[in-house]
Amino acid sequence: EIMKDVSGLNHLEKQLEKVLGISRVVIVPGDSDVQPWVKNEMGRACVSEMEERIKNDSIIAVTGGTTVAAVAEMMHPLKHLQANLLFVSARGGLGEQVENQSNTICAKMAEKVEGSYRMLHVPDQLSEESYSSLIEEPSIREVLSLIQSAAIIIHGIGDAKTMAKRRRSSEELLKKIDEENAVAEAFGYYFDQNGKIVHKVKTIGIRLENLYDNKTPIAVAGGRSKAKAIEAYFKEGPQSILVTDEGAAEEILNHN
Ligand code: F6P
Repeated sequence: EIMKDVSGLNHLEKQLEKVLGISRVVIVPGDSDVQPWVKNEMGRACVSEMEERIKNDSIIAVTGGTTVAAVAEMMHPLKHLQANLLFVSARGGLGEQVENQSNTICAKMAEKVEGSYRMLHVPDQLSEESYSSLIEEPSIREVLSLIQSAAIIIHGIGDAKTMAKRRRSSEELLKKIDEENAVAEAFGYYFDQNGKIVHKVKTIGIRLENLYDNKTPIAVAGGRSKAKAIEAYFKEGPQSILVTDEGAAEEILNHN
């Protein structure tokens, strides 16, 4: 029975790699929309993907959200405990609750593997003015350069509307998201179903183009309700590893 399940998922993984145009998809059983523990299983799978790829002195940049928080939850002392890993927050404040903020998550990951961490102390809402002065701050520039040297980026993907509401975004942004038919969100960028960027949150941290230079992005996102978002993100998205669940995978494949 177990063998059958596993080979069934392997088949789904291959199909999804083709549909999304990426070279590695890992699917865990279940649907995290209805079975909360499935998020931890995605977390566990993400930790193994990471473990396979880290080298000594690797820098790992992380975003926020409940799924990446589950990755931190499942993090355990790695086989490269002497590897001297550095976890950095990939994005400034994005309106998440403390436990789901990238700063909290990167500190927790570092603690679990006895590595070190650097946070990005940037408020959620940045005016043009504070943006241009913060970006000149030496401490912020240093974190930005660490993000740029990161080998691995662990990030979530969310449904655009869900994220805009969760962040208590302005009426104006909610309207824009509707009008531009945004369906996906990842690290502060909102995308429409063709993967076109329709809005960028004004914050400091990783930029989409950074994901293309010599990094391994690992996207962790599941649940049937995120199918559209995942599909849209990868329309134009960078080569990444996707860790997802059966719920999202089946829903994407039903539409392709
Ligand atoms: O706000 C940080 C973030 O990583 C978003 O970029 C993403 O859309 C969201 O969290 C995913 O959150 P969750 O894993 O809770 O669905």
